[in-house]
Amino acid sequence: MNMDAKKASESLVVMNELVLPNDTNTFENLMGGRLMYWMDIAGAMSAARHCNSPCMTASVDNLSFKNPIKIGNIVHIEAKLTRAFNTSMEINIKVWGEDSLHQYRYESNEAYFTFVALDPNNRPRKVPQVIAETPEEQEQYVGALRRRQLRLILAGKMSPDDATELRALFVPSKENL
Ligand SMILES: CC(C)(COP(=O)(O)OP(=O)(O)OC[C@H]1O[C@@H](n2cnc3c(N)ncnc32)[C@H](O)[C@@H]1OP(=O)(O)O)[C@@H](O)C(=O)NCCC(=O)NCCS
Repeated sequence: MNMDAKKASESLVVMNELVLPNDTNTFENLMGGRLMYWMDIAGAMSAARHCNSPCMTASVDNLSFKNPIKIGNIVHIEAKLTRAFNTSMEINIKVWGEDSLHQYRYESNEAYFTFVALDPNNRPRKVPQVIAETPEEQEQYVGALRRRQLRLILAGKMSPDDATELRALFVPSKENL
């Protein structure tokens, strides 16, 4: 497996889907569950593109639906790696609705998914690091460490005492007093 670091932009996946009657709730908007399914697929493709291995969804950070997507509109999903750790990768997934008849796009939601790369025995395997180039990618890269600490604490897999970068947001250091 090639372990050379890869640019975040190389993992970009753009996915479009048309909202059909079978995808909607009784308000004729896209069902949240269907959207999460598509986001999961876009995220899995982005993770696999980065590490060239099969990947498993380990967690999904909080997902709130800003704007519903109407029947007949296009769902536009963009998934991109923010940072890779040891065997896991954080993927940022943004979703827009698109009214192609009236030619406008509106934000729908955004979430962070974590995927773990698996070896042929389905055990976690090491992944290449990420090169963040643009200011947005660099901001996402730095924030990924704190988000990872928070989600591992919530999952009971990390002690808050070990979350140094996350604690620094809330607990002033002695130098700052
Ligand atoms: C995700 C999974 C492979 C992790 O395996 P594990 O035996 O717990 O392995 P480890 O404890 O060594 O963790 C492996 C990596 O997963 C990360 N991880 C584990 N649980 C996590 C969680 N809840 N959230 C985020 N990351 C998590 C660890 O931080 C570690 O990352 P790192 O190597 O970059 O530090 C395993 O928990 C699993 O198979 N879960 C079920 C996944 C699934 O069914 N997904 C589909 C749901 S529909």
